Amino acid sequence: MSQYLHDVLIIGSGASGLSLALKLAPIARVAVLSKGDFTAANTFYAQGGVAAVMDKSDSIEAHIQDTLNAGGGLCDENAVRFTVENGPIAIQWLIEQGVNFTKTKDAQGEEELHLTQEGGHTHRRILHAADATGLEISNSLTQQARAHPNIEFFENRIAVDLITTAKLGLSYNHCIGAYVLDKKSGSVDVFKAKCVALATGGASKAYLYTSNPDVATGDGIAMAWRVGCTIANMEFNQFHPTCLYHPNGQSFLISEALRGEGAILRLPNGEPFMQRFDARAELAPRDIVARAIDHEMKRLGAACLYLDISHQSVEFITEHFPTIYDKCLSLGIDISHEPIPIVPAAHYTCGGVLTNLQGASSVAGLYALGETACTGLHGANRMASNSLLECLVFAFSAAEHIQQQLQQIYLPEHIPAWDESQVTNSDEDIVISHNWHELRQFMWDYVGIVRTDKRLQRAKHRVDLLIKEITEYYSNYKISSDLIELRNLTTVADLIICSALQRRESRGLHYTLDYPKLLTQAHNTLLQA
Ligand code: FAD
Ligand code: SIN
Repeated sequence: MSQYLHDVLIIGSGASGLSLALKLAPIARVAVLSKGDFTAANTFYAQGGVAAVMDKSDSIEAHIQDTLNAGGGLCDENAVRFTVENGPIAIQWLIEQGVNFTKTKDAQGEEELHLTQEGGHTHRRILHAADATGLEISNSLTQQARAHPNIEFFENRIAVDLITTAKLGLSYNHCIGAYVLDKKSGSVDVFKAKCVALATGGASKAYLYTSNPDVATGDGIAMAWRVGCTIANMEFNQFHPTCLYHPNGQSFLISEALRGEGAILRLPNGEPFMQRFDARAELAPRDIVARAIDHEMKRLGAACLYLDISHQSVEFITEHFPTIYDKCLSLGIDISHEPIPIVPAAHYTCGGVLTNLQGASSVAGLYALGETACTGLHGANRMASNSLLECLVFAFSAAEHIQQQLQQIYLPEHIPAWDESQVTNSDEDIVISHNWHELRQFMWDYVGIVRTDKRLQRAKHRVDLLIKEITEYYSNYKISSDLIELRNLTTVADLIICSALQRRESRGLHYTLDYPKLLTQAHNTLLQA
């Protein structure tokens, strides 16, 4: 077992973790952990782009208003204003890191950034790198971070639990590091640091069908919960309306930017239907579009619906959506001539660790960023392409805050090593795979796009049983990455169910048949251990 010492420990190497590392590196020694390699992150798969006001005919006020409208009356207006106002600076910084956004020519033939549109936005304001924006951002930020002598990367390391001074029996509470499993050697190491940032992404793997890669198991949210952080608004799990429906194309997203470029949602008989649900039709916010698709699929007993961009030329499609075009073609679907079969799937965790504008949680020394955090920006429904922006803006402000704190923090000399003396090797790994599948299935069936108290209670009953079983298993057997993830996913599922049971109204992404109306007073759901 090894002990590592850094000024700041960043758990996660997506957009938020890497941005924080790069901002801190000139003044601090930083460790960045990743569960796999740097591609194992939601950031790597982002398609549509980053929202920011870059066009003269657009305005900060319009971006703020659109975000508030999409958020179902629950956004924190200060957080929205803060994020949107810092948008152009964040884009400039990305360009300085080498991010190559797609360009176009203006009326005078001058090159300018190409802006696309997505649901909820009343202007074209999405900067993108074709349909692989996340790949471009990940590559650029990783390259910069790897080149910096103050940033140390630790891949294939999974943080198990946070270490706080309170846990060590001291009279004050400050987060001072984490126990981390080395997936290759199997040892659990101590990573000691003056401040810790959770940049672990979201928890959409709690659902059977998701656009997210396997890492999205809510580890940061669960770890924060275990050390007493306030967790907010977990009932608002966003379902992306259009994931590819194909046996060989699971988890593949069909970007909302297609609808921004005129793609039409159609029933199996070819009829468009979104106009019946919202005057903004295909460009209504995501909660409305996903619910409309779910409603029509259930009404017709259809396995999927269709998204049709065949009105655009093949040249346009291959220029703007090369990844999606190639992926669909590899499965025998030529999207320039035929509609794409789609279904909604779990996509984004709007709730998370409650933070202030500096990304600080309710535990001193512990920060939460990106999809792990609940900053107040998204309210009851995130507007498309606001999340990458949030990753950047809050990483910048957290870096400033951490910089001001570092000199005043003293670490305790001794942190106990991970204790494995009471556990043995598991002889029943089937428990993990069975419980993993059961959890994701009942979350999909009972805690999905349309909820009822009865379904939520069924889910609560099942999650309580799983928690009991996993706690017992965890205390008796040596940990593995699957067990760590299952434990976290179960905790997060419980937080989602408890939050959903508390909300007695339908707002944004939380829609329940038992309380279909909106309460006049909007309130956050706050959970405390
Ligand atoms: P992530 O990028 O998910 O990174 C999490 C990191 O934490 C990873 O490195 C992971 O390995 C690490 N990690 C997790 N747990 C642990 C642990 N226990 N120990 C060690 N490391 C750990 N948003 C937009 O704004 N625009 C888009 O166009 C867009 N498109 C999207 C398309 C897809 C298919 C998906 C899935 C999401 C999309 N989103 C988009 C959402 C956006 O990509 C994410 O919200 C954002 O990238 C999250 O960044 P992050 O830094 O918070 O976390
Ligand atoms: C997409 O490209 O549709 C995803 C955008 C987002 O999730 O913000």
